[in-house]
Amino acid sequence: TADSTPKMFIGALDAGTTSTRFIIFDDAAKPYATHQIEFEQQYPHSGWHEQNPYELIKCANECIEGAIKKFIADGYSASDIKAVGITNQRETTVVWDSETGRPLYNAIAWPDTRTSRLVHHFKDKEGAEKLVQTCGLPISTYPSALKLVWLLENIHAVQEARKRGTLMFGTVDTWLVYNLTGGSTPGTDPKFVTDTTNASRTMFLNIKTLKYDDFLLDFFGVSQGVKLPEVVCSADDNAYGKIASGVLAGTPIASCLGDQSAALVGQRAFSVGMGKNTYGTGLFLLYNTGEEPVFSENGLLTTVGYHFKGEKPIYALEGSIAVGGAAVKFLRDNLQLIAESDEVGQLAAKVPDAGGVIFVTAFSGLFAPYWIDDTQGTIYGITNYTTREHIARATIEATCYQTRAVLEAMAKDSGYELKMLKVDGGMSNSDVCMQIQSDIVGIDVVRPQYRETTALGAAIAAGFAVGIYTDFNDLKNINTEGETTFKPSITEKKREKLYSLWQRAVSRCGGWLQ
Ligand code: G3P
Repeated sequence: TADSTPKMFIGALDAGTTSTRFIIFDDAAKPYATHQIEFEQQYPHSGWHEQNPYELIKCANECIEGAIKKFIADGYSASDIKAVGITNQRETTVVWDSETGRPLYNAIAWPDTRTSRLVHHFKDKEGAEKLVQTCGLPISTYPSALKLVWLLENIHAVQEARKRGTLMFGTVDTWLVYNLTGGSTPGTDPKFVTDTTNASRTMFLNIKTLKYDDFLLDFFGVSQGVKLPEVVCSADDNAYGKIASGVLAGTPIASCLGDQSAALVGQRAFSVGMGKNTYGTGLFLLYNTGEEPVFSENGLLTTVGYHFKGEKPIYALEGSIAVGGAAVKFLRDNLQLIAESDEVGQLAAKVPDAGGVIFVTAFSGLFAPYWIDDTQGTIYGITNYTTREHIARATIEATCYQTRAVLEAMAKDSGYELKMLKVDGGMSNSDVCMQIQSDIVGIDVVRPQYRETTALGAAIAAGFAVGIYTDFNDLKNINTEGETTFKPSITEKKREKLYSLWQRAVSRCGGWLQ
């Protein structure tokens, strides 16, 4: 129940790939109320992955209402919430009509691989060699660009809207902000914006100037007839407008960051050389490289880490791994090997190792550092000895091996080896998973007590925007107590033997889709 000390509260809306949550934090970043909803994923064909844009809005509103209800029951009031921060799954692409506000197709989610043929076409196009240095990303199915190209080539309603000049493009942040600030409701003034961290995942943004780049827009054929959202800072009290209706009507939206950037902020990785690994639907290791973008020679992406109004943007190198929690969900929903996701660790702990099984969880091809797009998920090493426990363990190990590959790429790019790995997100809740992670990477894995660092990062950014925090020093006591450290417990010999098996499996998996 509410105590007498006056506190300032921030609400964080975390719109992830498979679930949405709204968490209310006080100014010491202590969570007060939370509400979470898992929503439907649509897989209409092999490799396709869609979401209903209306459901994204509905979940956001329901999570806000659900958390506020609990907050009020504890004696607080909705008006105690000074601002809202938003964080979201990145790259997922939504198109809608500016006159009706209606989506013109389902959201194409970031792991969707329907554009793999377009990848080959665009890789051969003149100018392709300039892309990475301009936008920080290689051509692949992952960023938004080819998703929009596919929609323009294949969906009649999108083509018609383009002709009429009413075609709006956005990532999930843009779609949420547009609708939360009024959308198609008459008399409202919906904001059509995106922040630099989200915009840096589209391939339309120049990574140095942080403005849309004519070369990039021409390259993808989207310089005419597509309305692109205005690019603004990740923390800004004036760019995102106010929530138009519902329990938080009138509350300003003060921050917006892609979820991996938000986790970087939530882990307070504010200095060059600090990094974090977030275990969500996918796994994303971000490494702060400071005020200048660094371009990888080892398969990593260059991205905007965070960008607070009045400050220089901070860049990051990113190792994106497409499948993390998604593989656990696959064990739960497709194979029914477990009833709840958090059972995977217990199942895996029943065996000392994966019994020679290697599960290359390449459901969307393999992302960083490999970028193999002509492959799919493959399980190697099955014999009559293999049990469900081995498969569970191999599933966890797959994420851990890919983390090691990304760490090695980061060490090569930066000339510096991380001495410990900061982790957060769903799978990090499992002690078994984190012990396996530490064993496979051979360094300490450090887990904070509070693991919703993505939402926390959005709240911190909003707190900066509205003046609750003015200095990183204000955050020095946030989420520092109760860390758990997992230390490597297997021999170097065993670690290298396991990892070489993984490398062999990866070297064999390409070419399947030819
Ligand atoms: O790039 C995709 C990423 O933003 C999705 O994050 O946590 O939903 O897997 P998550």
